Amino acid sequence: MSLLEVTDLRIRYARQGRVRAALRREPHDFEAVSGVSFRIDAGQTLGLVGESGSGKSTIARTLIGLKKPASGSIRFDGQEISAASRRDWARLRRQMSMMWQDPVGSLSPRLTVGSLVTEPLRIHGMTGDRAEAERLLGLVGLPAEYISRYPHQLSGGQARRVGVARALALDPKLLIADEPTAGLDMSVQGEVLNLLNEVQKRTGVAVLVITHNLNLVRHVTDRMAIMYLGRFVEEGPTDRIFDHSHHPYTAALLSANPEPDPDARGARVTLSGEVPSPVNRPSGCDFHPRCPWSRPECGKTVPDWVPEGDRGHRCMFPL
Ligand SMILES: Nc1ncnc2c1ncn2[C@@H]1O[C@H](COP(=O)(O)OP(=O)(O)OP(=O)(O)O)[C@@H](O)[C@H]1O
Ligand SMILES: [Mg+2]
Repeated sequence: MSLLEVTDLRIRYARQGRVRAALRREPHDFEAVSGVSFRIDAGQTLGLVGESGSGKSTIARTLIGLKKPASGSIRFDGQEISAASRRDWARLRRQMSMMWQDPVGSLSPRLTVGSLVTEPLRIHGMTGDRAEAERLLGLVGLPAEYISRYPHQLSGGQARRVGVARALALDPKLLIADEPTAGLDMSVQGEVLNLLNEVQKRTGVAVLVITHNLNLVRHVTDRMAIMYLGRFVEEGPTDRIFDHSHHPYTAALLSANPEPDPDARGARVTLSGEVPSPVNRPSGCDFHPRCPWSRPECGKTVPDWVPEGDRGHRCMFPL
């Protein structure tokens, strides 16, 4: 049994300009996440990548109960949680932890690092003493003397470590990190990357990491999923997808990533055109207007998910 099992998840948002939409007899809402299925095993890391607006954070918000799905199933640790009650969530929040995008901004400036890392324990009625603060700082490689420092005295990388320590305070089974390296310079990105690796080895926590940083995906994830307009276009073991992607969108994303070894990749694929909006989906395959290999059928039929062993893709003419 997987720790997290998501099946055919659909998430809708209200449209802007609803009155005008109603006059034109258009629907009041749109599907930002459109039939997504995946699983994460205990202790595993899944990377979620895709362009801005593809629905990554929407999935994260729904997993932690901040947004209700329109349909589909979310099973966490054997329990269906897509319609969990408030009381259920009080318990679930301890087992699923979210690391927010802006770590410094999300740390209260008036609290010391020691109070910050143990705050989740106090919120849940437990004592967060000095020993606990030291243990948490140890998990993220910060020396005990940081307990008395304040957020403004931390570097970007250290603030991120404090954010990770807070997220680990309640000993969660799943950690969700939305853009953990955004806004950091390259050397600090490397630091965060190693940190996530170490934390996972030490605690065995499962991780869902959302990122634009393909280097991060390559070095910290077991599996990766590539999203386009609210759908997965490819999912599978990270090394095999980097080795040979089947979906043209994956190939385009990976070839746009600066590759240290110039011989490691074949011809570069460049993505042209704007990312379409989920409010106005193209007909057929979502990606066909931008796909260098598009054929006439691609504009007519929405491709099915094609499972191939432990990976899968959504393309009628895979690479
Ligand atoms: N509260 C909201 N109300 C209406 N539409 C929303 C809302 N939040 C997100 N959306 C829309 O849903 C779609 C998915 O947004 P989401 O934030 O999940 O994307 P993302 O993949 O996390 O992007 P980014 O990489 O920029 O963080 C987008 O079209 C976005 O405009
Ligand atoms: Mg996002």
